[in-house]
Amino acid sequence: MKVWERRFKGRREDPRLEAFNASIREDAFLASAEIASSKAYAKALRRAKVLTAEELSKITSGLAKVIKRIEAGADLGSFEDIHSAVELMLIEEIGETGKKLHTGRSRNEQVVTDERLFLKREIPRLLESLRACQRAVIRLAEEYPDIIMPGYTHLQQAQYVLFSHYIMSIFWPLERAKSRLRDSFQRIDVLPLGTGALAGTTAPLDRKFLAEILGFAAISENSMDAVADRSFILETLSALSLLLLDLSRFAEDFVIFASREFGFLVLDEAIATSSSLMPQKKNPDFFELIRAGAGHLFGHFSRLFITVKGLPSTYNKDLQEDKVPLREGLEDTARILEVFRITLNKIRPNRKEIERKAEPFLVATDLADYLAGKGVPFREAHGVVGEIVGYAEKKRKALNALTLREFRAFHPLIGDDVRAIFDPARSIRLKKTSGSTHPDRVKDQIRKAKTLCLK
Ligand code: ARG
Repeated sequence: MKVWERRFKGRREDPRLEAFNASIREDAFLASAEIASSKAYAKALRRAKVLTAEELSKITSGLAKVIKRIEAGADLGSFEDIHSAVELMLIEEIGETGKKLHTGRSRNEQVVTDERLFLKREIPRLLESLRACQRAVIRLAEEYPDIIMPGYTHLQQAQYVLFSHYIMSIFWPLERAKSRLRDSFQRIDVLPLGTGALAGTTAPLDRKFLAEILGFAAISENSMDAVADRSFILETLSALSLLLLDLSRFAEDFVIFASREFGFLVLDEAIATSSSLMPQKKNPDFFELIRAGAGHLFGHFSRLFITVKGLPSTYNKDLQEDKVPLREGLEDTARILEVFRITLNKIRPNRKEIERKAEPFLVATDLADYLAGKGVPFREAHGVVGEIVGYAEKKRKALNALTLREFRAFHPLIGDDVRAIFDPARSIRLKKTSGSTHPDRVKDQIRKAKTLCLK
């Protein structure tokens, strides 16, 4: 049965066409939002004197029965979409009065109202998951405050950094994700209801009242814009794509660090898998799947983006296709964040391997700074150290294995104090700027992070 079936004389019988047109399989997740917005709409109709007090109470209790049936697993398969399902089930429950609920109302506004309500419920949940990940990051950084590791650029050893500094580099993208979600929340928090199909409604509805009872901060200003806009979903999916893009970077780091070649991370058995053929394998599947998550999210984003692109103004049926990206985008992210947090809690650095793999040339920049400190212009100092490194490489010697004589052959200002440069702990203490890997600056960073992960 359809809400519009009396429009056409002959019943259309082909079930394949009905199934093709329907969205009930994709939009049933909006049921509770549909009930909430319908209850609010009935109240606004009462205020506008379209319903009597008695009719309102009939509709309200009827809607309560409908949601109970849906939650108990009622078969919705025969309905076109969740909006028709709720309306027709309400009529089943309370009869003729149920037919008044749709006065002035269009599914075009219902669908975006429900989607906004859904996001208003889900975004705070995601924010909480992000905060939980942030707390796991801080815990890990605080657990290993003094491990010094090689930091990489181009995946080549670059300079010493604290392991805790590296771990804290995960915190800030999570903070940016929170900020992006909060930002898009403001634009989601706008009520379309009271818009009708595209032009507004003849019933004198108090839209501010509607916004108040549904908990929206504002009402939409243009009815045509209200039913056309899907950017509120796209910007949420875009924020989530960027979040998972960041997580994919760290997941990739962990895959590399857990390899035998690196050996920086011990893969706890709780977060490792093995092979059906090669019994020795200990695989980082969880990190690989987290890495794949960015693809999921960007897929949802681009699917909706391309669907919306090229549509003319206001409602077009193509927009029905927004449900899967919306629901799956939110679900996938929630699942990935949860697994990311669980794996963070299980990560253990292998201090010995990290220290063993760090090459003494990680202090090459410090050596140039050392010469610069003695008055050699930095560019010149950089050149001298370049020559020293080339020499050591040719001699197959570690940089710290060169004798003072060998050093001095490159520059007479190099003295015995050059030995101290090879101390990794000293190297990181040389960093002076805020936000740097200096242990005190990392402590500052963690202090600030602790206040942010509560918000
Ligand atoms: N199922 C539709 C959707 O999800 C609801 C809106 C239908 N509107 C219409 N004029 N056919 O987009």
